[in-house]
Amino acid sequence: MERESKENEKKENVVTREELFITSKVWNDMHGEGQVEQACRQSLQDLGLDYLDLYLVHWPFPNYHAPGCDGDARNPDSRPFDAGEYLSVWRQCERLVEQGLVRHIGMSNMTIPKLEAVLGQCRIPPAAIEMELHPGFQQPELFRYVKERGIVPIGYCPIGSPSRPERDRTAEDVADTQIPIPFSVKPQQYLENLWCAVQDPLTEDEMERIRRADKNCRLIKGQVFLWPGADGWEDLWDMGS
Ligand SMILES: NC(=O)c1ccc[n+]([C@@H]2O[C@H](COP(=O)([O-])OP(=O)(O)OC[C@H]3O[C@@H](n4cnc5c(N)ncnc54)[C@H](OP(=O)(O)O)[C@@H]3O)[C@@H](O)[C@H]2O)c1
Repeated sequence: MERESKENEKKENVVTREELFITSKVWNDMHGEGQVEQACRQSLQDLGLDYLDLYLVHWPFPNYHAPGCDGDARNPDSRPFDAGEYLSVWRQCERLVEQGLVRHIGMSNMTIPKLEAVLGQCRIPPAAIEMELHPGFQQPELFRYVKERGIVPIGYCPIGSPSRPERDRTAEDVADTQIPIPFSVKPQQYLENLWCAVQDPLTEDEMERIRRADKNCRLIKGQVFLWPGADGWEDLWDMGS
């Protein structure tokens, strides 16, 4: 949400802050000691807010890439997941809750092995975990794992992210069905999507048809975050042999 629209809403008294649920994330290049708070405060200032409802660690490693780079670009400083390094970021997120800057904290782009390595050591457990979820990529094991621990799964790219950059596309990508609550900035589309969420729920038969549409097809492979010497994007998701 842009600051301008927030200020307009305040003026028109359309919604109150308490009625909104606002999420932001810390980007990979702000994982160092002291940087998470700095990034969070910058987002609060940019959004004209006193607090965020949810603050996520965007990726589980400090690897970042130059904006607009192509899919084969590798940053020589990139490295594999390290539980200790991740927990130092998480401790900083926990402090944001204690300071009242954020209400809840969460994770994103995690796998079961990574969660197993850190969940037991979180003083404040994640309220939510963001993961790619759409009919063509349902991640049932991760979804169940997260739900069983009382964590809310948030699905990103729910309609298959048709506008994602070219570097995030491969010939095998499949995402041919739709579920509600996708991203859009166009009023007609986001109203359609909200409407879907309050209409009659899907029937068990429709849910079963969606379940059968799973093609285990990950769209956001994240290859630009690979480290030198990695075999391929599968390494980011603990799928390597
Ligand atoms: N945690 C992560 O690492 C991560 C990774 C990827 C995405 N995300 C987040 O997840 C959210 C959704 O992901 P996404 O935007 O990539 O994928 P998405 O929600 O699957 O797709 C969004 C696209 O669908 C189109 N769309 C939305 N509603 C539509 C409708 N009713 N009819 C036709 N087209 C419609 C939008 O078109 P218009 O452009 O025309 O509005 C937009 O291009 C975003 O907020 C994104 O930031 C998080």
